[in-house]
Amino acid sequence: MVSVDTVLSALKKVVDPELHKDIVSMGMIKELAINNGKVAFTLELTTPACPFNSDIEQDVRNTIANLGVKELELKVTARVMEGRAISMDELLPGVKNILAVASGKGGVGKTTVSVNLAMALAKTGAKVGLLDADIYGPSVPLMLGLKASPEVINNKIQPPISEGIKVISMGFFYEQSQQAGIYRGPIISGIVKQFLTDVNWGDLDYLIIDLPPGTGDAPLTIAQTIPITGILIVTTPQDVAMNVAVKAIGMFNKLNVPIVGVIENMSYLECPHCKEHTHIFGKGGGQLVSEQFKIPFIGEIPLHPQIMTGSDIGKSVIISDPDSIHSHVFSKVAKTIAGRISVIAAEMRVQQEAESNQSQAGDSFSQAEAHNAPHL
Ligand SMILES: Nc1ncnc2c1ncn2[C@@H]1O[C@H](COP(=O)(O)OP(=O)(O)OP(=O)(O)O)[C@@H](O)[C@H]1O
Ligand SMILES: [Mg+2]
Repeated sequence: MVSVDTVLSALKKVVDPELHKDIVSMGMIKELAINNGKVAFTLELTTPACPFNSDIEQDVRNTIANLGVKELELKVTARVMEGRAISMDELLPGVKNILAVASGKGGVGKTTVSVNLAMALAKTGAKVGLLDADIYGPSVPLMLGLKASPEVINNKIQPPISEGIKVISMGFFYEQSQQAGIYRGPIISGIVKQFLTDVNWGDLDYLIIDLPPGTGDAPLTIAQTIPITGILIVTTPQDVAMNVAVKAIGMFNKLNVPIVGVIENMSYLECPHCKEHTHIFGKGGGQLVSEQFKIPFIGEIPLHPQIMTGSDIGKSVIISDPDSIHSHVFSKVAKTIAGRISVIAAEMRVQQEAESNQSQAGDSFSQAEAHNAPHL
């Protein structure tokens, strides 16, 4: 009969393909119990949107079967890892990861990507929020077909909900005041920060921030003041040709904000008959930028009327046509991003542990020093 140790040392050979660490060291095996030869445990994955979830599960099942275990009771769950600096915890205690969506210039599809990404992540069962940080031109409410006047309860703004996603946008407030604003970067960043602190976000696995376009004052100040887990750069093939994405990557690199990856929007047109892809604006630009800066290439999103119509009518293609190819494209992209965020969160955890060990070592060193110090 197998023992707990045998099971754990066998499972230590199962490695998460993205985190490059074994699932036992990552603390993914919970509530392991062995009863009359029956092995039961919970496999807690790092995100419900992990692209390798079924591979890891299969690997675990094979490993246990190879031990000669006849009965396995396996529960698979997911708990998203926290990927934010501990020092900012008090700002948003229930939010595990903040993903900011940025671009070198306007009109490349940041909001389209943010909205569809939020939808695709929520569909996997993750708790998702969407913050429209485009204070001048908030378009998230329109793309979601969401008209609302947020309530204030106990001094907290209650975010309106669309398809399970908690949403906040200046658009909800302009609707009340009938005016759009012209604000400088620090004021915009102040409003965004207020959107973080004064909104009742509750518990979220992912908070997506649709940043204002470009590399100006506004996105820069927001990126500096908010505890962002990672930035997703949206680009188009023309954008790459004009080096605009490069400028954005340079800015975030300087700020030391991790870049989750580059996504190329409006990459190609697919022929509805033969399914051939035509790269009307050039091919491989996003990939080139990713290689140049050693940041992951998340994927390509086609240029398609169904994606645009979804935005215009306020119903994402993921909801209106969940089995469509475009819905699948966004789901795939969302899974890749969730995987990347898990990697960044795991790296942050390792770094924080190292820092805390170092400071503990420092503490004991100074205690030892104090102990050995001559008494004056
Ligand atoms: N893949 C796509 N296929 C077809 N149309 C698209 C696609 N992506 C975006 N669009 C359309 O392009 C326009 C610009 O997109 P979007 O508003 O998302 O860009 P943005 O980067 O957020 O712009 P801004 O900088 O003004 O905030 C919209 O009309 C949108 O519907
Ligand atoms: Mg936008």
